[in-house]
Amino acid sequence: MNISNGQLWKYSSFIQNENHSFNKDKILEIITKEQIDDAYLTISNWKSYNPTPLLVLNKLSKELSLNKIYYKDESKRFDLKSFKALGGAYAVEKITKGNKNTTVSTATAGNHGRSVAWGAQRLGLKCKIFISEFVSDARGKAMEALGADVVKVKGNYENSLLECIKQSTDNNWQIVQDVAWKDYMLVPTLTMAGYSVMMKEIIGQINDDEITHIFLQAGVGGMAGAMVAGSARYLKNIPKIIVVEPDSAACVMESIKSGKIQKVNILRESLMGGMSCGEPSLVPWEILKNSVDNCISLPDDDIARAMKLFANGSFGNDRIIAGENSAPGVISLIASCNDQNIKNTLNLNADSNVLLIGCEGDTDQEMYKKLLKD
Ligand SMILES: Cc1ncc(COP(=O)(O)O)c(C=O)c1O
Repeated sequence: MNISNGQLWKYSSFIQNENHSFNKDKILEIITKEQIDDAYLTISNWKSYNPTPLLVLNKLSKELSLNKIYYKDESKRFDLKSFKALGGAYAVEKITKGNKNTTVSTATAGNHGRSVAWGAQRLGLKCKIFISEFVSDARGKAMEALGADVVKVKGNYENSLLECIKQSTDNNWQIVQDVAWKDYMLVPTLTMAGYSVMMKEIIGQINDDEITHIFLQAGVGGMAGAMVAGSARYLKNIPKIIVVEPDSAACVMESIKSGKIQKVNILRESLMGGMSCGEPSLVPWEILKNSVDNCISLPDDDIARAMKLFANGSFGNDRIIAGENSAPGVISLIASCNDQNIKNTLNLNADSNVLLIGCEGDTDQEMYKKLLKD
């Protein structure tokens, strides 16, 4: 099978950042070297810590005539199967300092809450999780299994966050949110410092290779901003940074276009659930606004097909469990290589070493099984 057949892979929009200037020092003022280093020191000392695999998609790189495609496989992150495990749990530890009288709380679409619940359980703390009515029962149950008290709130994510803030203020609970707002920057910054552990691991896994391109999925931009900060901290070169979003929620793209934070109206929830966010978070935005080279947005159409190709080992020698949010990186890469203009703009060629982030495995097993079967 010709996996990269150009007709098969769709993108919706591709834009260039007119305000691009990657400034390592500026980036490391937003998340500092000390915060990044502390996150690695702390997390790498957790009992169950192991770096996740960095796989190569050798069949795909051959077909696209690229030198290498690396895939960071976060389906193997602790037992939580997503990079989110690095953020929330680390922030819980930093802000509570393990004080047993603390109750932590958060609002979540799923994976962040699982990380907070797990972090609280590790330290023997109480945990309250607020989810919207759109979060699946399977995701709610997964957090209950980690000892959290899960509260379902009518309406969308924003409603669950408002209820979380209200009840937390009334009851003196510590909110551990991955999204920043005015006066709430430290915890989201710590969360991102936690995510940057991925880049530290990657540096130890690529030997002397130089990463030339990084495709970064974005919801509110936390993961993308963290990986850019990790690049500023650990890489000698400056890779091209390409942000990938669902076309129904391309809030980073819209913000990059206009040079300031834009809110988009989500008219249809994307299959890429973790990325279905209407507005970039403040902390990552400060990093992304100048460091991103390009943004690309995608429809949901090819997600299930990409997940199947991961699962049956079509992209490389490994069979990979890639959840809905792990698929858009590879789709954008193939779509970019199949469009000569984009390929030239991104300078994708036989010397390119591309990094893709497989940010989650089958974090929602029912959904995963359904998408693989259809
Ligand atoms: C499971 C999951 N949740 C959320 C996100 C988005 O992260 P953020 O909201 O930090 O941009 C991703 C990937 O981008 C993801 O894989």
